[in-house]
Amino acid sequence: MLAQEIIRTKRDGGVLDASQIGAFVAGLVDGSWSEGQAAALAMAAFLNGLDTDETVALTRAMTHSGSTMDWAGENLGGPILDKHSTGGVGDKVSLMLAPMLAACGAYVPMISGRGLGHTGGTLDKMDSIPGYQTAPSSDMLRAAVRGAGCAVVGQTADLAPADRRLYAIRDVTATVESIPLITASILSKKLAAGLQGLVLDVKTGNGAFAASMEMAQELARSLVSVANGAGLPTRALITDMNQVLGHSCGNVLEVWEALEFLSGQRRESRLREITTALCAELLVLGRLAGSHDDALTRIDRVLDDGSALERFARMVAALGGPADLVERPGQYLSAAPVSRPVPAARDGWVSQVATRDIGLLVIELGGGRRQAADRIDHRVGFSEVLPLGAHVRAGDPLAVVHAADDATAQAMARKLAATIALSDVAAGAQAPLLTRLSAD
Ligand code: URA
Repeated sequence: MLAQEIIRTKRDGGVLDASQIGAFVAGLVDGSWSEGQAAALAMAAFLNGLDTDETVALTRAMTHSGSTMDWAGENLGGPILDKHSTGGVGDKVSLMLAPMLAACGAYVPMISGRGLGHTGGTLDKMDSIPGYQTAPSSDMLRAAVRGAGCAVVGQTADLAPADRRLYAIRDVTATVESIPLITASILSKKLAAGLQGLVLDVKTGNGAFAASMEMAQELARSLVSVANGAGLPTRALITDMNQVLGHSCGNVLEVWEALEFLSGQRRESRLREITTALCAELLVLGRLAGSHDDALTRIDRVLDDGSALERFARMVAALGGPADLVERPGQYLSAAPVSRPVPAARDGWVSQVATRDIGLLVIELGGGRRQAADRIDHRVGFSEVLPLGAHVRAGDPLAVVHAADDATAQAMARKLAATIALSDVAAGAQAPLLTRLSAD
């Protein structure tokens, strides 16, 4: 089957059958499709769309383009569950959710990604823990899932390799923001991980890829229908991303916040609501809870009795990190050399936050990548970022900036202040949970 004929069909608005899509995916893996040909088909799909059958065929073919994980031989005694977020600023939900699920009896091989655009990546956060292996061997990953119940790790070389090549091509050819291509990309990795239940956190707002509710709903519907169609029971929550989630953004700072959350020292209310809601969906989906209320009771228990924190500690140790991280986090999580408050210029209520810009400032501080090969400074970012609706007096801190040196801290403090609008009248915030979608 000639690549150019397949590209021509899609270019002219035709529909590809499963064998044509299979040929494309095989060509991505064995290199018989050049980068130019793959990019041309990605752009044709971006412009002309893929229908549901084409999206299902692409998802299936990419799922089976490498090895798939099979957990049957492990006799785990609990469901294999996972969550995927479409990305936001300060989104550290995975760091708490994986051990919470594990403490409730689930097994969570969480295949995560690095920062993308303005959003922070879960893997970069875990990389700020010294020794922690985000690219473990298959044996180490299996041992962590068996022993701790969860493992937050990266995509292995042989998991959905067609997606890895296509994603890299899409990234540099302006073909990322296509709902069918995003759907197949996300789900191929989840299906290859051998899951039995998935919940999607589809974010919408000025810090999300899906800026509008319409786009978030379209993406959520596509993900839920293709995943369920492929035999993976899946639900989606659409959640608000019009402000930083929790109080911090930046890699080490978010690990600190996750530890504070799990240990009960501090649980920011929006972060708690979203994390708990996603966890409850999965506990019901995995039949570990009989109802939503039952799930909430279990979640409270594993947070309050310390068992979720203990699972986090076990996961870190199983993947090569320090065995006493949760007892002595300050010994392992490096602080930035300079931290300084960002003062409010006047009295007022926080009425608007330019969330995407805050994500970009974290990159400018060195906490994210400008180029794929960049090394990142895990120590930098912002903490104590005020939520929408908070009241300040002139000079009160809007946030604290953590930077590599004083000049950068001062410059970033000025830029951060410009992302937070203050008004004279009390302002509110959108509820954190906006909509729920399931196949039923
Ligand atoms: N995340 C993915 O894994 N793939 C996409 O296409 C977009 C976000």
